[in-house]
Amino acid sequence: DKLARATEILKNAKYAVCLTGAGISTESGIPDFRSDRGYYTNFIPEDALSVGVLESNPQRFYKEGYTILKDLEGKEPNPGHVALAKMQEKGVIHEIITQNIDDLHQAAGAKQVLQVHGDASTARCERCNYREDFKAFDERVQSGEIPPKCPKCGGVMRTNVVLFGDAMPQAFDDAVRATEKADTMIVVGSSLKVMPVAYLPRMVEHLIIINKGTTPYDHNADVIFDGEASPILTELE
Ligand code: OAD
Ligand code: ZN
Repeated sequence: DKLARATEILKNAKYAVCLTGAGISTESGIPDFRSDRGYYTNFIPEDALSVGVLESNPQRFYKEGYTILKDLEGKEPNPGHVALAKMQEKGVIHEIITQNIDDLHQAAGAKQVLQVHGDASTARCERCNYREDFKAFDERVQSGEIPPKCPKCGGVMRTNVVLFGDAMPQAFDDAVRATEKADTMIVVGSSLKVMPVAYLPRMVEHLIIINKGTTPYDHNADVIFDGEASPILTELE
């Protein structure tokens, strides 16, 4: 069966990496983007998460796009995050490359996590790179300071998540390098529609996909699990 095939591929892998997307965190109560219950399908226009809107219409960014940061408050890792952390600890997979900004892989104990779309837990000054915790930053936003100013240099502070139109962070270069080393990748909970991250699965010989619904890489995959990630990952672990 599929589980046996996936296990065999992982056992024979010389170097395996995992790529996760919003689908691994839906079981923690965080919406994904493109499924029936996703942000773009129901709550926010896709362009609200862009540098263009952040810069030209900060009021709109903080009303619309910013909700994805506020929704993360109090969210906990689910058994899928835990299973991946254990697989990493055992050396079955090496880097966890995540498009998620929720820090839930780390909260589940994962050590090598490459956050290729940044993180929600910090804000930074666009001018001097001063860092601030999300909590302190958000207090200023909630009190109506939009956009919040840098306490050090007076520049504009912004979230440390990657928005459409942003350059990719160093973590993405690290992810490319890790994937170059890899012969095997497990994709979990991503529609694989957003570039440049969606190029990564092309670079490996063996691909295992755990995702509700189809992806553009289904024809390249050795094994596809079309279902809830956490029970499948728990079994696989
Ligand atoms: P998407 O919403 O595009 O894809 C999530 C996928 O996970 C969908 O195919 C869902 O059907 C699937 N899914 C949902 N819950 C699942 C579960 N419990 N088990 C298995 N599969 C499940 O999210 P991403 O691919 O992560 O970027 O989106 C990529 C990027 O688009 C995000 O990082 C974000 C967004 O715009 C930026 O904002 C820059
Ligand atoms: Zn500054």
